[in-house]
Amino acid sequence: MSKVATLEIDGKRYEFPVVEGTENELGINIKSLRGESGVITLDPGYKNTGSCESGITFLDGEKGILRYRGYAIEDLAEKADFLEVAYLLIFGDLPSKEQLEKFYDDIKEQSTVDEEMKKILDGFPKAAHPMGVLSSLTSALVAFNPSCVDVSSEQDMYNAIVKILGKFPVLAAWTLRKKTSLPLNYGDDSLGYVENLHKMMFEKPGKKYEVNQSVIDALDKLLILHADHEQNCSTSTVRMVGSSHAGLFASISAGISALWGPLHGGANQAVIEMLEKIKEDGGDTKKFMAKAKDKDDPFRLMGFGHRVYKNFDPRAKIIKKSADEVLGQLGVEDPILDIAKGLEKEALEDPYFVDRKLYPNVDFYSGIIYRALGIPVEMFTVMFALGRLPGWIAQWREMRLNKEPIGRPRQIYTGHTHREFQPVDKR
Ligand code: ACO
Repeated sequence: MSKVATLEIDGKRYEFPVVEGTENELGINIKSLRGESGVITLDPGYKNTGSCESGITFLDGEKGILRYRGYAIEDLAEKADFLEVAYLLIFGDLPSKEQLEKFYDDIKEQSTVDEEMKKILDGFPKAAHPMGVLSSLTSALVAFNPSCVDVSSEQDMYNAIVKILGKFPVLAAWTLRKKTSLPLNYGDDSLGYVENLHKMMFEKPGKKYEVNQSVIDALDKLLILHADHEQNCSTSTVRMVGSSHAGLFASISAGISALWGPLHGGANQAVIEMLEKIKEDGGDTKKFMAKAKDKDDPFRLMGFGHRVYKNFDPRAKIIKKSADEVLGQLGVEDPILDIAKGLEKEALEDPYFVDRKLYPNVDFYSGIIYRALGIPVEMFTVMFALGRLPGWIAQWREMRLNKEPIGRPRQIYTGHTHREFQPVDKR
């Protein structure tokens, strides 16, 4: 029998159906609440609000489970590559060999951008943060591709998807090249998606491009781990903007701005800055552990704790192994890695962190790998955006195919009640 929730307001009872997800999550469907009772719910930050039903990503923060379209993140990180995962997230199933080849061929066809875009990039100061530049360039793509996607046409939808997957890495790489004063370039069709991205970022004029395969593997894994995380801040932004029927590129551009913030995608940068600070201070991890536990000190151990994962972040486990492997293979000796390892060991044995279930999250290690790969700190969040792109696309597509209504929350007004207008000389 289907479950029902009962609400009583001023002695009057209202009943609402309870929706059950495939993993037995329960949600009270309050669609008729305001119409029937005149009352709304109040939930700042939407911590208890399901904004949609979605078949893309499942996560269980207590058990440390993360699955894309039913596949465990551990399996995908080990056995799939980023483009396969992108296809899976967007279209719902793992691609056949033929589907994957066609998908990549179609993306490659779209991997140039209008030359006029270079003038826009040229107008930014070199000191501009790459995330601001990337968001602006993605928004500018709309101007160069003005026709609206007809979402009732699978082909139209597909064309828009391969277009953004082709052009986005070029724009992301150019934000780095601008920062590092390298000439703007394009990729090489004979390379895989991730290797091509790496080439576009780091290729130097007059030098043959060569890369260690373990670097590409580590990058591929990092992108997979960041590819989707259900209704987080940037993804909700993409769905919200898209719900007004603004196009895919405009919605993605808004998602980039949401991801930029230090409470969301900017945390990996904060981890490296914290480790640098500890190093400069003499490397005394115990001193900083004490600061993190001191309630009168605002210092927090960056990269520890997570809003959803309260036992462990499954992505952190995978990435920790990958960090050890790639740093070993590259022979990188980084003093801040020793500081990170020291902090981690102490925190995992410290009752303050153990009792509060504070474990290293994905960002504790991702910054260390990016740094070892020679990626500047300001580019870390751009790398996150590159990984999250398939998730944003998948969520936008699902929202449009489900014909979801425009997102329009309500409020409880707490301002002045009616006031008489006073002319300026009487105020
Ligand atoms: N260092 C020290 N103490 C901490 C930390 C930390 N990193 N995180 C939480 N605590 C303490 C809090 O002070 C609080 O202690 P109290 O119960 O004695 O008051 C308790 O642990 C619970 O903390 P909350 O802030 O309520 O936990 P919440 O779930 O709201 O916050 C968050 C999660 C924001 C991630 C937090 O752990 C934090 O600030 N971590 C550092 C920043 C970080 O790494 N962010 C990246 C998140 S992962 C991602 O975005 C991909």
